[in-house]
Amino acid sequence: MYLKLIFFLCVNVILVFGHKGNRNIVFPDSFKFGAATSSYQIEGAWNVSGKSESVWDYYAHTFPEWIKDGSNGDIACDSYNQIDVDIANLKLLNVNFYRFSLNWPRILPSARISDLNPDGLRYYNELINKLIDNGIEPMITLYHWELPQSIQDLGGWSNRLVVDYFVHFARVAFEEFGDRVKTWITINEPFSICSMSYEEQFLAPFIHSEGVGTYQCGHNLLLAHAAAYHLYQDEFRARQGGEVGFTMENPWHVPLDPNNPDDIIAAERATNFHFDWFANPIYSKDGDYPPSMRTRIDNYSSLQGYAHSRLPTFTPEEVDYIRGTADFLGLNHYTSHLSTLSENQTPDDNPSYDNDLGVVLTADPAWNQTARDTFTVYPHGLRLLLNYIKETYDNPKVYITENGYAGFQNETLNDQERIWYYQGYLTSVLEAIEIDECNVQSYTAWSFMDNYEWSDGYTLRFGMFYVDFEDPKRKRTPKDSAYVYQNIINRRYL
Ligand code: NOJ
Repeated sequence: MYLKLIFFLCVNVILVFGHKGNRNIVFPDSFKFGAATSSYQIEGAWNVSGKSESVWDYYAHTFPEWIKDGSNGDIACDSYNQIDVDIANLKLLNVNFYRFSLNWPRILPSARISDLNPDGLRYYNELINKLIDNGIEPMITLYHWELPQSIQDLGGWSNRLVVDYFVHFARVAFEEFGDRVKTWITINEPFSICSMSYEEQFLAPFIHSEGVGTYQCGHNLLLAHAAAYHLYQDEFRARQGGEVGFTMENPWHVPLDPNNPDDIIAAERATNFHFDWFANPIYSKDGDYPPSMRTRIDNYSSLQGYAHSRLPTFTPEEVDYIRGTADFLGLNHYTSHLSTLSENQTPDDNPSYDNDLGVVLTADPAWNQTARDTFTVYPHGLRLLLNYIKETYDNPKVYITENGYAGFQNETLNDQERIWYYQGYLTSVLEAIEIDECNVQSYTAWSFMDNYEWSDGYTLRFGMFYVDFEDPKRKRTPKDSAYVYQNIINRRYL
């Protein structure tokens, strides 16, 4: 697969450079640019007007020592009180759309469908209406990690009941906002939700269920996504005419030594276990988990003495139910990794995702480091990933729903590294579209403004707007990258 891809890219580059004058290296007219945030990361107002606790409210309050700077999102960017300021700043960027998420317990505080919170609806209606009045399309993520704590108390994503609760929530969102919102993302970053909450204790609910809860969580997420998609398809699409997709994150996995067959296997397996874990059931022709995951985890589970595989099984009906449930493929991408097989290729006594994967991921020292240890800068990786998606999933419509640069807490308005980052990654997107004919239709910068970076608290800055977290008004100021992004959007080339 890898060699095929490299060959294919070389041929394309030769073809295009041979006919350079015929190619139009600008973003197509239909291509859209946006900026993104999520509710817990910016809204604040964690306990106003009937809102109940999410897992993030609960864990950041109860275990502040698990957050790097002991902080929480109680106020965050105070966006709940600053709709007009945020819209003026989005106008400055001149984005076509704004991607934001709904805070589930702000809308459904008790998780009962009958218990709608009027103030939650008021807030999102006002935001949506003002965006539209200003010519900015709303793109909504239903689930960007604020599970109501009352559902977590039942086991959260590891309890299949969550599927029904999620569908109730989706119904409310489609009913209340679907007359104006035409792009829906059901779930943001399934891999992070499951691996960083059940495996690594990096995200709420910080659970230890390595190699077991992780896969159960993924299983229920896929069922919940599919159920929300079917709900839209059956009851809302005809009258609302919108689209529903799923957003997965993936680094690109590069073989440590491209001439070493084992490293090629490692890179392929890492992609299977990270991206294809969720993409294969939804976007492939046959559906279901990737065969390599199925075989390896089944085999390890049986050698470890489990009665069933730790990777749950979909019935044939469920495989069909999940397959094809997306109108677009949402992609979050930040970095790439070098991959090589780990020394241990046998099952450990204590199961874990890492042991199942059996791959060591590192960064190439030649790639620039960002403020987050695990994020280095390799723009070409995005082009390779887009080509992988094109080849593996029959060139689906791709929306890049996040891409961005982690700056340090003491970053200033002069964020030159972020500018280079955006220029590099957008060049890769442009090449993927114009040279490789990948069906990429939009790009979203993460983030619109600095915000609460989960268990990194306020120690990292991802924004194009600087937010002063010492100021009670959370004053926002455009960084240099905001003007560069605005320019790219206005000119439609780099
Ligand atoms: C992905 C997540 O969707 C977002 O919430 C987070 O802030 C960024 N990555 C940066 O880590």
